[in-house]
Amino acid sequence: MSTASRIRCPQLRKRIMSAHDAAALIPSGVNVGMSGFTGAGYPKAVPQALADHIRAARARDERFRISVWTGASTAPELDGALAEVDGIELRLPYQSDPTCRQRINDGQMEYIDIHLSHVAQYAWSGFFGKLDIAVVEVAGVLEDGRLIPSSSIGNNKTWIDQADKVILEVNSGQSAGLEGMHDIYYGTALPPRRKPIQMTAADDRIGEQYLICPPEKVIAVVETDAPDRNSRFSEPDDTSKQIARHLLHFFEMEVEKKRLPQNLLPLQSGVGNIANAVMAGLNEGPFENLTAYTEVLQDGMLAMLKSGKLSKASATAFSLSPEANQELSDNIDFYRERIILRTQEISNHPEVIRRLGIIAMNGMIEADIYGNVNSTHVMGSRIMNGIGGSGDFARNGYLSVFMTPSTAKNGAISAIVPMVSHVDHTEHDVQIVVTEQGLADLRGLAPRQRARRIIENCAHPDFRPKLLDYFERACASGRGMHTPHLLGEALSWHQRFEESGQM
Ligand code: COA
Repeated sequence: MSTASRIRCPQLRKRIMSAHDAAALIPSGVNVGMSGFTGAGYPKAVPQALADHIRAARARDERFRISVWTGASTAPELDGALAEVDGIELRLPYQSDPTCRQRINDGQMEYIDIHLSHVAQYAWSGFFGKLDIAVVEVAGVLEDGRLIPSSSIGNNKTWIDQADKVILEVNSGQSAGLEGMHDIYYGTALPPRRKPIQMTAADDRIGEQYLICPPEKVIAVVETDAPDRNSRFSEPDDTSKQIARHLLHFFEMEVEKKRLPQNLLPLQSGVGNIANAVMAGLNEGPFENLTAYTEVLQDGMLAMLKSGKLSKASATAFSLSPEANQELSDNIDFYRERIILRTQEISNHPEVIRRLGIIAMNGMIEADIYGNVNSTHVMGSRIMNGIGGSGDFARNGYLSVFMTPSTAKNGAISAIVPMVSHVDHTEHDVQIVVTEQGLADLRGLAPRQRARRIIENCAHPDFRPKLLDYFERACASGRGMHTPHLLGEALSWHQRFEESGQM
C-alpha cells in the first residue's frame, strides 16, 4: 500500500505537511501526549523536528521546554532527541533512554514514575494538568477519519480524547496488515460511573478496531516511512537459562499439585533479556496451549505463537528485534488471528488481571531478605527505568514472580540485600523470588521464614554467609522479632558500594 493510499480521509489529506511545519505548531510550555510503548509505535519525525526547533530557540537564548507524556518508553528519535536538547520539562510515566535517565538523575528533568494502568485515569482527572497536543503515530486513516493504530496503543485513545489538538504521523513502514489486530475499549469511566470490564478470557474482544478522532481536532498530518526501534535481544546466557529452568520446574510442580492447570494461567512477561529467556524456556518446555495477557510482546512470545505453544496473546505493544519484526510482517495474517493489542488501561487493568489470574513475571534490581522488591532505583536515589506495569501485575496477579541474576556489576553487587534501598513492591505483593541460584516460594511464610528461604535459595554464595550473619545478629538484637533489622546496618551494603565499588 503506498503512503498516499494510507490517508483515505479527504479532510485529513488537506492537513498533510512536513514534520518541520507540524513541529512548529508545538509551542514551548505545553503538555504533549505522544504515542509510543517500549520502542514501538512512537512518532518518528515530529519529535526530531521539534528538537531542531528547540535547538534553534536555544541558539537565540530562548528557553523552550515541553512536558512529554507517553505510553511507556520510546526511542532515540523521541526521548533521546528531546532530552539531548534539554527540551523536556517533565516526563511521564516510564522511560528507559540513557540521556533522559541522566537528566532525571542530574535533577534537570522532572519525572513522574507511576503504574501504567493509572496514567489514563490521572489524565482524565486532570492530575497532570491539561493535555494540549497529542502526537500519535498510526498505520493509516480510514475515509471517515477513524485511525488504524500502529504497533502500540498505550495511551493513544486517552491522548486523542483529552488533547485540544492532534498531530498524526501516518507511518507506511508499519505493516498494513496490522488493521484488525487492535481492540480499543471506549467504555472506561471515572467512579462512580464505572462498569465491569466484560472480559473472562485473554482473547476476548470488547472494543473497536479503530481509534476515533474528530477530524477537526487534527492540525497536521505527517507522512513517514520508518521502522520501530527494534532492538536485538541478547542470546540467553547461562544465568538467564538457569532462572528459566527454576521457574519451569516450579510451574511443573504447581501443575502436579493441581494448583495450576495443565496450560498454566495467562502469562505476563516483563521487559528485558531475562523475561525473553524465560519465554524461550517455556517454548521448549512441556506446557501446551498457553495464553498470554501481558503488556509487551517480545521475540520470545512471537516464537511461542509460531510454534503453537502459545495459542493467543493480548498486549498493548510489540517490542521486537528486526528479525522478529520481519517475521511478524511476513506472516501478519497468521499473527492477527492470535494477537490482540489493547489500550494500556485495559492491558494492565487490575480488575481483568485479578479475574484472569495472571502469572506475572518481572525483572527487578534487588530484593531484600524479607521479600520487598526494588525495580526502579540504583543505590536508593538514581532511577533506572521506572515501575512500568510491574506493580499492576504483581499486586493483582494470581502469582507474582520477580527475577534477577543474584549479583550485578561483575559480582560487586548482591541482588539480595538486608534492606532494599527503594521499595516498589512490598513483601505483601511478592510471592516468588528467582535467581540463577534458585527459587524462593514465599507464599504462606512469615517474615523470618521468608528471610531464611530467600537467603538460602536465592543469594549468591559469596554473599550468603554475610546475609545470614546479618539476619542472625538482627534476631539476637532483641529489638523485635517480627521483622528483625539492625537499623544502623540495614543500608550499609549500599553505602559500602558507593564508597568502595563493592558491597
Ligand atoms: N544494583 C545496581 N545495578 C543493577 C542491579 C543492582 N542490584 N541489578 C541490575 N542492575 C543494573 C545492571 O547492571 C544493568 O546495568 P547496565 O545497563 O549498566 O548494564 C541494568 O541494571 C539492567 O539489568 P539487567 O540485569 O540487564 O536486567 P534487565 O534488562 O532484566 O532489567 C530491570 C532489570 C529491573 C531494570 C527491568 O526489568 C525494569 O526496568 N523493570 C521495571 C519495569 C518492569 O518491570 N516492567 C515490566 C512490566 S510489564
